[in-house]
Amino acid sequence: MRAPGRVNLIGDHTDYTGGFCLPMAIDRSIEIHGAPSDDPFVRLSTEGEADAVVGLDVERPDAVEPEWARYVAGVVAEARPSHGFRGIVSSTLPAGAGLSSSAALEVACALALGVDASDPVALAGLCQRAEHRARGVPTGLLDQLAVIGGVAGHGLLLDCTALTLTPVLLPPPSDAEWVVIHAGARSLAQSGYTDRVHELAAAEAVIGPVRNASLRDVEAIPDPVVRRRARHVVSENQRVHDFASAIGAADLAGAGDVMNASHASLSTDFESSTAAIDELCRTLVDTSGVLGARITGGGWGGCVVALARPGAIDPTRFDRAWVVEPSAGATVLAT
Ligand code: GLA
Repeated sequence: MRAPGRVNLIGDHTDYTGGFCLPMAIDRSIEIHGAPSDDPFVRLSTEGEADAVVGLDVERPDAVEPEWARYVAGVVAEARPSHGFRGIVSSTLPAGAGLSSSAALEVACALALGVDASDPVALAGLCQRAEHRARGVPTGLLDQLAVIGGVAGHGLLLDCTALTLTPVLLPPPSDAEWVVIHAGARSLAQSGYTDRVHELAAAEAVIGPVRNASLRDVEAIPDPVVRRRARHVVSENQRVHDFASAIGAADLAGAGDVMNASHASLSTDFESSTAAIDELCRTLVDTSGVLGARITGGGWGGCVVALARPGAIDPTRFDRAWVVEPSAGATVLAT
C-alpha cells in the first residue's frame, strides 16, 4: 500500500465549513508491506521508532504509545478488522513537517487492513474519524481527500460540501516548481485550530453557512474577531476559484498574486501564521523568479509553499525544503 503526502496550494481553513480548497498529492509517500495474521493485533515496525502494537479491540487510540501508533490505532478503531496484520512501514515523507504524514499513514493502514477503497470519500471519512480519535483535533477532510484522490500532474479542486474532487492541470515542471519549506515545528493540538473551528461556528450562528456568505454578509457579525475569521474564509473560498482560473489559463503571475493574498489573509484576519513565517514569505516573494508564497496547512508553524520558476529557489539553502511534484493518490500495490 502506498499513500502520498500532500501540500495545499490554496484554500486553508475552508474545509471544515464546507468550502473549497486546492491541494495536490506529492511525490513523497508512506508504504506498508505485510500480510494478515491470526493474532488479534496490528503490528507495524518502522525504522527509528518503537513498534506499533495495537489490539483489534483498542478503545482509546489517543492514549496509545508510541505516538505514531495512535494513527494506526485510530484506523483500527474505525475499521475494526476481523484479522490482525503484521507489516513494515517505510517512508520518503518527512514526519511532522506539515505534509500530512498522519493522513498518509492512516490511508496506507486502512488499505493494508482491507478497508473498501472503491468510494474515496467514504475512505477519507473513515481516516478523518481515525485522525480525530488519535489526536482530538476537529480537522476537516482536506488532507485525506488529497492523499486518496491525487492525480499525477494535477491539483485537486475540492468542494467540501458536495464532496467532489475536480483535477486541475498544473504547469509542467519545465515552467514552474512547487517548493515546500518547513518553517518550524508545531502541534495542531496546541495550536489555535480548535479555537478557529469554534469561531467559525459562532460566525455561522449569525450569518448561516459561511460557504454561501458574501463579504457584505460578514459585516453583519458584531464580534470583530469572529468577523475577521469569517472574512478570511469567505475571501479564501473566492481565491481558490481565482487561483484555479489563473493556473488553468497558464497565468502563473496571477496565480502567485492570489497565493500572496491568501497568505496576507491568513496572517492578518485568521492569525494562523507566525512572525518567522511572515518573514520567510516576504523574503521568498522578493526573490527573483518567485511568483507567490504562502503558509500552507494547519498553521502556527508547519510549511510555506512557493510557486517559482525552475531553479529560482535553492532548497538546500534551508534546513528542510523540498521541490515537490503533483502525484497520484493512494494505491494498493501488488505484493
Ligand atoms: C489541517 C487539517 C485540514 C485543514 C487544514 C487547514 O491540515 O487537517 O483539515 O483544515 O489544516 O486548511
